[in-house]
Amino acid sequence: MVAIPQTRRQFLQAVGATGGAGVLFSTMGALGLAPAAQAAPPFRAPRESDFTLTGRSHRSVLVLGAGIAGLATAYELRKAGYRVRVLEARERPGGRNWTVRGGTVETDLDGHTQRARFAKGQYLNAGPARIAQHMVTMDYCRELGVPVEVFGNQNADAYYYNEGVGALSGTPIRHRTAKADVYGYVSELLAKATDQGALDGQLTADDKERLLSFLRGFGSIGGRADGWRYTGSTRRGYEVDPGAGFEAGTPKLPPYALSDVLASGVGQYFSFEFGWDQAMLMFQPVGGMDRIAYALEEAVGRNLVTYRAEVRSITNKGAGVEVVYTGPGGQTRVASADFCVCTIPPQVLARIPSNLSQPVKDALAYAVPVSTGKIGLQYGRRWWEEDDGIYSGITNTNLDLSTIWYPSHDFHGRKGIVVGYYNFGGNADRYSSLTPAERQARAIEQGVKIHGEKYRTELETAFSVAWRRTRYSEGGWVSWPSRTSGQYGRLLEPDGNVYFAGDHLSYYIAWQAGAFESARKVVTDLHARVLST
Ligand code: FAD
Ligand code: ALA
Repeated sequence: MVAIPQTRRQFLQAVGATGGAGVLFSTMGALGLAPAAQAAPPFRAPRESDFTLTGRSHRSVLVLGAGIAGLATAYELRKAGYRVRVLEARERPGGRNWTVRGGTVETDLDGHTQRARFAKGQYLNAGPARIAQHMVTMDYCRELGVPVEVFGNQNADAYYYNEGVGALSGTPIRHRTAKADVYGYVSELLAKATDQGALDGQLTADDKERLLSFLRGFGSIGGRADGWRYTGSTRRGYEVDPGAGFEAGTPKLPPYALSDVLASGVGQYFSFEFGWDQAMLMFQPVGGMDRIAYALEEAVGRNLVTYRAEVRSITNKGAGVEVVYTGPGGQTRVASADFCVCTIPPQVLARIPSNLSQPVKDALAYAVPVSTGKIGLQYGRRWWEEDDGIYSGITNTNLDLSTIWYPSHDFHGRKGIVVGYYNFGGNADRYSSLTPAERQARAIEQGVKIHGEKYRTELETAFSVAWRRTRYSEGGWVSWPSRTSGQYGRLLEPDGNVYFAGDHLSYYIAWQAGAFESARKVVTDLHARVLST
């Protein structure tokens, strides 16, 4: 059995976005068994005038967690003058939105302490790193004045590298080469089948000619007289690049053999970049993803966020909510408000004592945390640009690294940070069980297979994050075994005066957009309740 690479399907499974509930729900919808999805009206932020016009008084809201969901909730409520306070266990805003820079210190749940020794200006987006154009995250960047730049999510010159896959095992293959061969052979086969009449039941004579014409261009294949053969093309790249005078270039020919290409599994990777959420162009904030978190913090008001405030209990009162937390100095404190919006990840919140209802507790326990991890490798020279001509983008591999990312900023700079692995599930667990030094050693040992010895010899320093073992997160995100069995839906409603928000309560799990959208929903619900009571 061929080792199947980290495909779009596997990625989607890792983010809990395929199979199970999603498929079930749409299948039920098709059978008329599930309610049709209803488009929510466009978000309208609460306004001061909502209170003056209705004569209602401002209410107080305690927000638990200063991640994207918590800060966005506070930000939107502040627009209407709600009395807001945010309690956050960490020393910084952002939660999973975390940019590691030189000086960052973190101790994980296994007691491993790392101090990042990255050079000035270098950073690792340990959590979110990319934003699709259509996401509400971009709207917040615009509104908050966070500059963005293009994030290279795909790059024709990055590599595919698989092991245990036949003749092409252990061969780094450029994306462009792999695509040329896969598209070429698939086009050849389909053209032959079409021309030999295999699709006559589906296609008219005109359809067939149009399809054949498309395939000739799509796969760069020969015509009818050539038997529609794929014999390779300059799309595969050059051994010697074209140049001046009579230097026509030497294309990389012939193509790999059809059977070897199929066995290699490289084609399995292609659909990733067709995804609604992963298609280019994509973006990143200039200077690190945490620019969004800090901009939100500033917009909310730094004085309204208490850091190093770890929530210890949540109690719904007849009127209002009481939250016990340990303050920055370790003292026990109590905070009260009319309402609470809790954005603490479900797997963490499930262990915090509360008088939340049993169905809510069951729902929190129902969410399944997902493992994911990253390592940032700082190099003193941008060899991926200088030697390999790779400017941003991602290399995919069936090694346990899953992916290697090249930076989308500071092109031609002096140093740079490569993400040496960004992996999920079992691969992430494997690295998570190692010490940071062991993770680094393994990531290098694996990466050398793709990039050669410079990957080892030119390394300056590294910093790794295992999200399942990161305090206050305990997972990269969660997946729901089902969204229709009641538990997920229970958290979309308040429990007394406590509301819940976070990317886990959206169809954008593992995206900041989900945290923003969820915050908007809760703000809308809470504000409607306040105005109607
Ligand atoms: P969180 O950020 O988890 O916020 C919850 C907050 O609660 C945290 O600040 C936490 O410290 C706090 N908290 C926990 N316990 C307590 C307590 N007891 N008391 C007080 N506070 C507490 N999104 C993208 O848009 N693009 C990407 O490319 C992307 N890639 C990702 C890659 C990785 C590796 C990971 C982990 C995530 C990625 N995401 C990405 C997802 C994105 O990070 C999340 O969707 C988003 O940040 C979730 O925000 P949140 O506010 O819902 O949750
Ligand atoms: N949304 C996350 C990513 O794109 C999972 O990597």
